[in-house]
Amino acid sequence: MKQLLVMLVNHILLASVAFRVVQCLPTVSGTDGDRTLSSSIKASSTSSQHVCPSHARPKAVSQARAQSAPHDGVLRGVNIGAWLVLEKWLVPSIFEGTGAKDQCSFDQLPNSLARLEKHWASWFTQQDVEKLASYGFNALRIPIGYWAYDTFDSPYKSGADAWLERALDWAADANMKVLIDLHGAPGSQNAFDNSGCIGVVDWQRPVNLERTSAILHTMARKYGQQRYQNVVMGIQLINEPISWGANDFEKTRSWAKNITQDLLASRVIENPNLKLVMHDAFRDVQEWLEPHRSLNGNATEAKNALFGLDTHLYQVFVPEDKNLIQQQHIEKACRWREKLQAAKKANFPIYVGEWSVATDICVWPDNSTTPGTTCTAVGCQCQSAPVSDWSTALVKEARKFVEAQLDTWHTASDGYFLWNFKADLGAAGPWSLYESIEKGIVPNPIWDRAYPDICSS
Ligand SMILES: *[C@@H]1O[C@H](CO)[C@@H](O)[C@H](O)[C@H]1NC(C)=O
Ligand SMILES: *[C@@H]1O[C@H](CO)[C@@H](O)[C@H](O)[C@H]1NC(C)=O
Ligand SMILES: *[C@@H]1O[C@H](CO)[C@@H](O)[C@H](O)[C@H]1NC(C)=O
Repeated sequence: MKQLLVMLVNHILLASVAFRVVQCLPTVSGTDGDRTLSSSIKASSTSSQHVCPSHARPKAVSQARAQSAPHDGVLRGVNIGAWLVLEKWLVPSIFEGTGAKDQCSFDQLPNSLARLEKHWASWFTQQDVEKLASYGFNALRIPIGYWAYDTFDSPYKSGADAWLERALDWAADANMKVLIDLHGAPGSQNAFDNSGCIGVVDWQRPVNLERTSAILHTMARKYGQQRYQNVVMGIQLINEPISWGANDFEKTRSWAKNITQDLLASRVIENPNLKLVMHDAFRDVQEWLEPHRSLNGNATEAKNALFGLDTHLYQVFVPEDKNLIQQQHIEKACRWREKLQAAKKANFPIYVGEWSVATDICVWPDNSTTPGTTCTAVGCQCQSAPVSDWSTALVKEARKFVEAQLDTWHTASDGYFLWNFKADLGAAGPWSLYESIEKGIVPNPIWDRAYPDICSS
């Protein structure tokens, strides 16, 4: 889905850049140390300065109050995207001056392996793991492409698995769990850039399904080892296989059931708690209850069930969502609780493997919001502006949406993973957790609330 964002961003970027030139927004530094957001809102009425353009950032971001992490067993996670599987919209810098548009074209460039090694060594490091842990996160979802394990004579370069294994050690040191996610499958399961190759979906050709299963056997043998028992909580079988075009949902579901059964029966997995997590293929939880019952058998609690479901909950890609104002986005995030509870009630582990801050709205100076199709209107601030330049009103509206989502995930899921931990500075608006945390859009620590119980008010 995320490649659609590129179009979206391109579409509204021009308008917002023009807007920033004509009207600069107040930027404030919250200093009273309790809640970044509320303090900055308070400050804005008294001591805001117009900095134009502003790269000033609020400093007060890390005053965790004397409040501890909830002990609810829910994984509070972040995606480590654009690291082992490139996505140009998140990391345009590595593509600069090349004609490449995705991983498979990048890997055909001269010296691509050396460039990849440089990226792997710098984009995500042990310091990032420590930083994420300091924000209160206790889990990482790490996407990797099949080509790390077998290139099957494709143009892809191998080597990413060694970095994933370093990350497992960093995560273990920080007491964090990892969901290892097969993000790109042979043949491409969705033709999105994040599957490795933009273009054709050919995943369900028998040879590609077999190759995917073989890769998963390799991954299960490696990451299901006892030595990773305390860090690798699960392996995701595949990310976002579409259920239209060249893919048939029945086949996807049947494959997922078969590979899960095979892996559980094969005895290659030493870790008795390792989950095998399937993306919902953009279909309802109800359509996965049969495989759940047959694979999880008599599990009476989600924690004893080894087959789990991953769902991606965004509100920024389809026309239906693009027409909402922010209050409607918030209400929709609150209603997601029911969708997730359908799985919870059945003791079916469910993870929100991807979600984000982004909605396609703009915010007027009187704090009202309109759908982003009005982003060309002068004076209405869109999310495509660099996060450091967001108005207080926009920060506030985005923060409410984030907290509504977090409350929903906390009450109704087994874990959630924000997309994405970072992007090139300013490249992807609020899709960079680092920028959103720094601006007070995402709570720090993640369980802090500026709008407590927003779903019941
Ligand atoms: C899964 O296994 C069943 C039973 O062996 C078989 O009939 C079905 O074709 C398999 N599904 C796929 C997608 O290979
Ligand atoms: C569920 O439990 C019953 C009774 O203990 C047992 O006979 C049955 O085989 C179990 N089913 C599965 C799928 O494990
Ligand atoms: C808009 O929100 C800001 C920040 O919360 C607040 O200071 C301001 O009074 C609001 N403006 C209106 C017109 O409600």
